[in-house]
Amino acid sequence: MKVAVYPGSFDPVTNGHIDIINKTSKLFDKMVVAVIHNVSKKALFTLAEREEMVKENTKHLDNVNVESFSGLLADYVRQKQACAIIRGLRTAADFEYEMYIAMANKTLYPSAETVFVLADSKYIYISSSIVKEVALLNGSVAELVPESVNKALALKKAAMKI
Ligand code: COA
Repeated sequence: MKVAVYPGSFDPVTNGHIDIINKTSKLFDKMVVAVIHNVSKKALFTLAEREEMVKENTKHLDNVNVESFSGLLADYVRQKQACAIIRGLRTAADFEYEMYIAMANKTLYPSAETVFVLADSKYIYISSSIVKEVALLNGSVAELVPESVNKALALKKAAMKI
């Protein structure tokens, strides 16, 4: 069975991420979307909230599981017996950054290849940070995120009394 792991912060998941999951899930027998606690980022949503949002928006895909983890990605990929680590590429700048992570992961766990999947052109400018900033400053992100995420952002904003 060919298993792929798609790791990310998903704070929150965007239409760009969902596009990558939709496309990649067709290429593997099983895909695990791994919502990570990135120590270098301050998250708006809790790990559980982020995991739930990804679950809600991938439930139409039978071969996709969503989990969260903290720790080394290479160890997680080994534990899942995955043959591929999926990363979405939007621009050449993404590749610069991703190449070093891919090389490090290859050294830590040589049995998995990093597979880069090109983002759809209509999503190349989206990032979770842009989505959060626009939403928290009263802009519309309805075109950028699934409906449930749009609602969650509005609730978070209300709770923060911005
Ligand atoms: N659509 C929309 N946004 C996209 C995207 C797409 N197709 N592809 C990338 N992005 C954005 C994300 O929204 C995110 O935006 P943000 O920075 O505003 O939050 C950014 O690009 C990249 O973040 P993400 O994909 O969530 O990855 P990350 O940089 O937070 O984490 C990991 C990268 C998961 C690979 C890395 O942190 C990791 O492996 N962590 C585990 C610990 C570990 O093993 N470390 C050693 C690694 S060698």
